[in-house]
Amino acid sequence: MQKITVKKILNKKNKIPITCLTAYSKTTAEIVDKYCDIILVGDSLGMVLHGMKTTREVKLETMILHGKTVKTFAKKSLVVFDMPYKTYTNKSIAYKNAKKVIKLTKCDAIKLEGGKKISKIIKYLVSRGIPVMGHVGLLPQSSTNFKLRGKNFAQKEKILEDSLSVSKSGVFAMVIECVVESLARKITKSVSVPTIGIGASKYCDGQILVIDDMLGLSDFFPKFVKQYSNLRKIIDKCVKNYVKDVKTRRFPSIKNVHK
Ligand code: KIV
Repeated sequence: MQKITVKKILNKKNKIPITCLTAYSKTTAEIVDKYCDIILVGDSLGMVLHGMKTTREVKLETMILHGKTVKTFAKKSLVVFDMPYKTYTNKSIAYKNAKKVIKLTKCDAIKLEGGKKISKIIKYLVSRGIPVMGHVGLLPQSSTNFKLRGKNFAQKEKILEDSLSVSKSGVFAMVIECVVESLARKITKSVSVPTIGIGASKYCDGQILVIDDMLGLSDFFPKFVKQYSNLRKIIDKCVKNYVKDVKTRRFPSIKNVHK
């Protein structure tokens, strides 16, 4: 089993599609690690695991707890830690928090949301040896609506400019979230690092989804998610059957008893 490195991810640009999923727990980390190049410990965990309304409520300590678990059980994939809201408001705050994250979780890299505005922060972190993944397009930490981005000329130009700025600041890859196909294609052609799309068409160097969404565990079914199962329905049926068994004394059966 060969460990995936930042260099290996960079080398995949324009060659082999990069496979990524989020994971937040031991079990999902172990499974995703078998197949994916990158595991993102996404701040989406606030919404999918903890039922928060936005990712802005996610605390650094919560992320560290999940980051540590995922990194412990992921042996091969590159584990990327999503820095939560307000933890990288300037260079020194970003560096202090990123150093703490890497020290406590041992994650391989961090991810920051934003464009031109945070490019200097990214450059600073990279120059101090912290591998950074960018995130452009729809930015959940600073957005009030979750609509498709890049539908008009001005928005397209701004997101392209942000992508170029983030690429030049030294990221090893960038997530492009929820943009029109033509823009994703343009960004992927224009930047020197791999682009990882979520709701950003096939014209990216790789794809990422939130694991709970693709497993059908969450209640979120946007067009860009392909649902590979309906785990919510499966769990519902299991719990229903368990309760029925307990009530009818079919569980525990002879097989489950110590004599
Ligand atoms: O938090 C997250 O899971 C993410 C992905 C949607 C890319 O940022």
